[in-house]
Amino acid sequence: MLMMICLCALLVACSARQEVAEADHDIKEDDLIVVGFSQVGSESYWRNVNTESMESVFTKENGYKLIFENAQQKQTNQITAIRSFIQRDVDYIVLAPVVETGWDTVLSEAKEAGIPVIIVDRRVDVSDDSLFTCWVGSDFELEGSMVCMWMSKYFNMHGISPSSIHIADIQGTLGSSAQIGRTKSFQHMSRLWGWDVVAYEEGEFTKSKGKEAMSQILAKSGNVNVVYCENDSEALGAIEVLEAAGRKCGSDITKGEVMLVAFDGINEEARDKVAEGKISCIGECNPMHGPRVESIIRKLEAGEVPEKYQYVTEGIFSNTSDIPSVMISGQERTVTVITN
Ligand code: AHR
Repeated sequence: MLMMICLCALLVACSARQEVAEADHDIKEDDLIVVGFSQVGSESYWRNVNTESMESVFTKENGYKLIFENAQQKQTNQITAIRSFIQRDVDYIVLAPVVETGWDTVLSEAKEAGIPVIIVDRRVDVSDDSLFTCWVGSDFELEGSMVCMWMSKYFNMHGISPSSIHIADIQGTLGSSAQIGRTKSFQHMSRLWGWDVVAYEEGEFTKSKGKEAMSQILAKSGNVNVVYCENDSEALGAIEVLEAAGRKCGSDITKGEVMLVAFDGINEEARDKVAEGKISCIGECNPMHGPRVESIIRKLEAGEVPEKYQYVTEGIFSNTSDIPSVMISGQERTVTVITN
């Protein structure tokens, strides 16, 4: 009998403690800031690091609940995700847009619902810029100009005449800010210096499409000796195709090598290719936007107004110290040398 009484008392105490714990848990859940993040996809190593950067800050310990949606590179999926965030009445929407246009309607819906939208990485091209609170990301046109300037310096230093440069562009996802900016600089600089542009092929920022694009380029223009890859995943694909075709990747185009340049510089495999001399130069694209977005949200929570456009400063990677820095429109970028 005594044992039964003790057991009952124990059960009552346990269930009371569990109720307290659950109530405590509920209070904490209610206190969390809910962030809906619509990510482009997982097309590149850069993108995965960008996702991890967001996940590392929007944690329960930091006071957040993150709702993550991977759009698989499709704008329609992003629009559906934003509508679901609105329905769930999230506190903030973070959007990494796959392309620039086509956002007016859905962002108006978010504005009507009173949900601040923070744009990351690529830009949105909207008629009314009050449709988003602020943007944080890279100056893609500047990245492109820096890489083209590095090439121009290299060609000058080695007495390579512009007319002997037969260059192809493996573009990123058409209509994305990263593609628009990098292609724009490429077109401008190649015209300015008189390089022979032999082909444009879309590589969608993926290694597999980079391979397809490189095969197309080789089929069309066997004389190609420089390839401007709009990210390093594409460059890794291009190297495989070039090597399989018996071409050597390297900076010495006077000896028949094919020079590759790229963007990002976060992928260890691509950095190794720089050290080996197979990629000559990479324009840095910094994916660590998580802490930046989190500090914007903290500002908004404190009633402050964050800067509308927040650019990230980036450098250049190469395996030669011959070109210590490049300068464009008064902006100087240091070249970091990567060696084995
Ligand atoms: O928008 C940034 C670009 O998107 C990166 O250069 C690329 O790797 C990514 O997929």
